[in-house]
Amino acid sequence: MSTNSITVFRGETSHLKRMVSVPDRISPEGYQRELEHIFKKAWLPTASASDITDKGSHIVVDVPPLKTSVIIVRGQDDVVRAFQNVCRHRGDKLVQRAGCGKQFTCGFHGWRYSTEGALIGVTDETQFPDLDRSKLGLIPVHCEVWNDLIFLNFAKTPHEPLSAWLGGIYDQYSGYAEGREKTGEHRVVLKANWNMAVNAFCEGYHNMYIHKYTVPDYQGGKNNPMRHRAYIEVGKRFGRYSAHANMDHKRTPAEAVLYGRSKPLFPSFPRTDPDTLTPGINPSRFGEWAFDIVHLFPHFVFNPTANSHLYMWFWPIDAEHVELRVLSFAFKARNAADRLAQAYSRVRIREVLREDLATMEAASRMIATGALPFMVFSQQELLIQNHYAIADEMMGRNVEPIERPMAVA
Ligand code: FES
Ligand SMILES: [Fe+2]
Repeated sequence: MSTNSITVFRGETSHLKRMVSVPDRISPEGYQRELEHIFKKAWLPTASASDITDKGSHIVVDVPPLKTSVIIVRGQDDVVRAFQNVCRHRGDKLVQRAGCGKQFTCGFHGWRYSTEGALIGVTDETQFPDLDRSKLGLIPVHCEVWNDLIFLNFAKTPHEPLSAWLGGIYDQYSGYAEGREKTGEHRVVLKANWNMAVNAFCEGYHNMYIHKYTVPDYQGGKNNPMRHRAYIEVGKRFGRYSAHANMDHKRTPAEAVLYGRSKPLFPSFPRTDPDTLTPGINPSRFGEWAFDIVHLFPHFVFNPTANSHLYMWFWPIDAEHVELRVLSFAFKARNAADRLAQAYSRVRIREVLREDLATMEAASRMIATGALPFMVFSQQELLIQNHYAIADEMMGRNVEPIERPMAVA
């Protein structure tokens, strides 16, 4: 561990690179390597367990990089399972939308499956001599629930269980979603590479510039004018940081009215007793804490604050398109004032997210030209360095250091 004036760093950083070559990573060939070595092997955060709380409830989730559809269902035994969304007869898409029930019925010829995946009904079954139903259950996808997040793994046999994949943080987040409700959902497809997209949410270096009109004074404060992160940690398959709240943040008139009658939400951060937080949130117990960013490699960012949290997925569609899915959660509304506070914060978040998104398409387009041989990262962008180091390790890349970073052609 080392420190500078503000940031406490944790984790092994000696292998990280401050300059990373990018053009080949975002090429179609590079993307194929990412599919094979990352998206077909990683534990992928995919959905919120809050969407399937009742026995028999299910959701249908598209997984763009693998071009597949998955049913995630809470069985009658309360176990959450995932299945390829395909009928074992002739391959029709079995389930079209979220719902709740005791069975799935295929719309093509009426084969029926239990919520635990067993084939329980075959239309006109006598016409299928020797059909063995027990061998024709739904095709499972490896699935594990971690707190409120459902992870999938598309490997035949995952290299390691989710607990090992997440390492030391596996036990640090219990209960973070309790007492919360979903307050918003956004989806947008961008003409950008998924790496560029997730990178933009893994550092706070940009917030003084991109967000200078929408949230001019929400971070840092007089003792931290460059808004260094309070805490930065890199791990085997994750990176996380804590942001410093500006305790002198001037509330807008709307914030003053709405958060004065409810609980403060983005971009107003209340002073919070760190000991009320689960250990993984604000892990350094920083007193003027605003929020955390937790990057779960490869494509997911978790953003908890004292009274809310966001999930952000950056699903690659191909080398140059990414689908951003955002779910927002906040404390459960008790009255109209709470509901108004939630609605107001949702609009402010959307405004800020749109500013983040604005950078991605242009950067992806220029990098794809090959004009930029490498990117340069500061210490405040350590999570991005970690992102590429994990990617290189999973893809077996042996990356040569860039020797003459300042050379001009
Ligand atoms: S494809 Fe589903 S019953 Fe025929
Ligand atoms: Fe941002």
